[in-house]
Amino acid sequence: MTTKQRKILIIDDEEAVRELLKHRISNEGYHCEVASDAKEALNKLLNNTIELVIMDIKMPGKSGMDFLLEIRQRFPDVLIIMITVISDIHTAIECIRRGAYDYLTKPFILDEVVLSVKRGMDKRRLDMKLQNYKQHLEQKLKEQVKELREISLGAMVGLSFALEAKDSYIAGHSRRVADIATAIGTKLNLKKDQLEDLRWGSLLHDIGKIAVDQAIMNKPGKLSAKEYECVMTHTIVGASLVGPVARNKRITEVVEHHHAHYDGNRFNQKLSGQDIPLLARIVALADAYDAMTSIRPYRAALSRKEALAEIRRQSGKQFDSLVVNALLEMLPSDIGTGKRTILVVDDEASIRLLLRSTLGNDYMVIEASNGQEAVDIAISLKPSLILMDIIMPYNDGLQACYEIKANPITRNIPVVMLTSTGQELDRRLCAGSCADQYITKPFSNSYLLDTISKLLT
Ligand SMILES: [Fe+2]
Repeated sequence: MTTKQRKILIIDDEEAVRELLKHRISNEGYHCEVASDAKEALNKLLNNTIELVIMDIKMPGKSGMDFLLEIRQRFPDVLIIMITVISDIHTAIECIRRGAYDYLTKPFILDEVVLSVKRGMDKRRLDMKLQNYKQHLEQKLKEQVKELREISLGAMVGLSFALEAKDSYIAGHSRRVADIATAIGTKLNLKKDQLEDLRWGSLLHDIGKIAVDQAIMNKPGKLSAKEYECVMTHTIVGASLVGPVARNKRITEVVEHHHAHYDGNRFNQKLSGQDIPLLARIVALADAYDAMTSIRPYRAALSRKEALAEIRRQSGKQFDSLVVNALLEMLPSDIGTGKRTILVVDDEASIRLLLRSTLGNDYMVIEASNGQEAVDIAISLKPSLILMDIIMPYNDGLQACYEIKANPITRNIPVVMLTSTGQELDRRLCAGSCADQYITKPFSNSYLLDTISKLLT
């Protein structure tokens, strides 16, 4: 900012004083506004970016002392220099105590006025720089803490998926619960941070089963009361695993209370009704809906209609009726498919998991682990966008991209290639391939989301 653009407001009821100060300070390159009383000055402060105020202590109407407090409160970044007469120096000192930056005495020595103004403007510039720097650092720190937390939670979600993958009856359960719960949460107008916690809580709700005896977990047929009780310890175990990593009460509560019945009728239940955290009440319903509509070794899957009929019967009993109503009002397509679909292609499961964690709140994520699979899925499901690694088995990313772009069915799907930092050859190949965009690794979550959002707009 040039000094010409930096604005100073002079407040004095004597026109001669105002004009004298305006003339001398303007000569230093500052833009000067003038006002004869507090009312006029407030108007100027509201309509201009004033950085420094020079104000007489004695004014008609609101006194300089009172107006000083108002400016400090409403415009805390504005510096204030008070004007006083020699005989009233103790009042000027009181003004400094109340937040004024400096004081000037009448009659003025104009060079001293200029010196004080320049010193004040320099101080304000430094203060603002420091403030911006601090805000930038705080933001950066917040982002890094969030990123670290997501990496740790992502690793736990990986464990949970690995546990589910051992059993074909529950494979993919947590991911489906996360999609259903997120759809219900969206219907209930939850805020973005609540939806984010809901998704993590859903993905991790059964992590505690890792500690349950596998013989009981894999037992075909109905469990005995004792075995059921043993399985149910997964809520407490899960909460104790997730708590220290998530450091987030809402996520931990979902894991701990996702089997709580709304009417408090489940054995050993600590909370009931509205005391059960809302996110846990949502996951309880999403969990039950997915379980009902999935095949179990001892029964067939219920149809959507049959599952909803059972849920309706349990409204106000096992489930919160507010959450039930949200689910009943939703169309089948609202559950998980309201979002645009992104196909993530990478042969490394951990990378796919990380990308899914980053994109899962905003998009439906489907996955492929090699180029050939990517081409087949692109043709059959026509995702909104494809995010693809280059080096993969069977069919590398560049070949797959070429095939996708050569096929009239898939040629309009944007393809973003993921390449490694410093690998100039990769970058050139990406640029020369038919890909719409390429991103070099490592990349930040915000950059990835921003790039995708622009391509989809
Ligand atoms: Fe569970």
